[in-house]
Amino acid sequence: MKEELEKLFGEALGNLKVAGEESQVTQVRTEFLGRKGKITALLRGLANVSPEQRPIVGRLANEIKLSLEEKIRESLASIQARKRKERLLHEKLDITLPGRRVPTGRKHPISEVCNEVIEIFLGLGFQISEGPEIESDYYNFEALNIPKDHPARDMHDTFYISDEILLRTHTSPVQIRLMEKQEPPIQIIAPGKVFRCDSDVSHTPMFHQVEGLMVGDNITFGDLKGILTIFLHEMFGAKTKVRFRPSFFPFTEPSAEVDIACVMCQGNGCRVCSSSGWMEILGAGMVDPEVFRIVGYNPNEVVGFAFGLGIERIAMLKYGISDIRLFFENDMRFLGQF
Ligand code: DAH
Repeated sequence: MKEELEKLFGEALGNLKVAGEESQVTQVRTEFLGRKGKITALLRGLANVSPEQRPIVGRLANEIKLSLEEKIRESLASIQARKRKERLLHEKLDITLPGRRVPTGRKHPISEVCNEVIEIFLGLGFQISEGPEIESDYYNFEALNIPKDHPARDMHDTFYISDEILLRTHTSPVQIRLMEKQEPPIQIIAPGKVFRCDSDVSHTPMFHQVEGLMVGDNITFGDLKGILTIFLHEMFGAKTKVRFRPSFFPFTEPSAEVDIACVMCQGNGCRVCSSSGWMEILGAGMVDPEVFRIVGYNPNEVVGFAFGLGIERIAMLKYGISDIRLFFENDMRFLGQF
């Protein structure tokens, strides 16, 4: 029996030596040490060994079983280590490869310029106010002193939802909504989308305006000039020449249009400024007493100024863009430049 045991042990070790996979190793365990294994089967015959030999053979059998177990564990460990090494070699990262670029988003140039305008006015003590894009005829026109047959309506053709409901053509109605529910002093800007039935190189059916309103008991045209000049200097540079030109708006009296020296030719005259040297940039004026009367203020007690500017226009002047429609075509080659 001793010889048979040693023979089986040798056979098992031989099998282990050529086992290259974990499954082959565990196969050896089942084949020799399992419940139906060869060594297990042989040891069932231990009862037939002579009593003197039995302890010797028993001890030998134990040693062989323990030793074989040990070899099996070592063999499993070395196979696992080898596989791990192979895998690491295979999965090796080349850290010298350039990384893949993740495209990053950015703000639309119109949002960018709008935020810049807002920041400047916040710095001057203005607060932000908002109103609806779908507006009534009353707030968009009537209350701003533009009655139904007024010629100023010509420049404000818009999209009508019904006879009385329309898409607002300017942010000026926010003035009315605010003054209706708040007493002076007021110092606000109202940024937002506006709409007109227009489409060419300098007009899109939707664009953005910022309205400004400052109302109190001692506000002068000088304050208006000062605030707007500071704004334009911040926006276009401190050396930018600013000019106030008499004009007309139904909701301001007196009214002015504000020009800056052409950013292309610095006032010398070029194609962009139609040889005038100036570029119109915003509308402004002292709030018309009639507007104060409409919102329920006493025009003898309050004064104020208002102004309105177009964001796209400012962005075009700032970046030298000659076609407003480029802002809304979403061509990344264009938008990526800012
Ligand atoms: N609402 C005018 C427009 O869209 C712009 C404007 C001009 C607003 C003069 C004003 C202002 O508040 O005083 O054409």
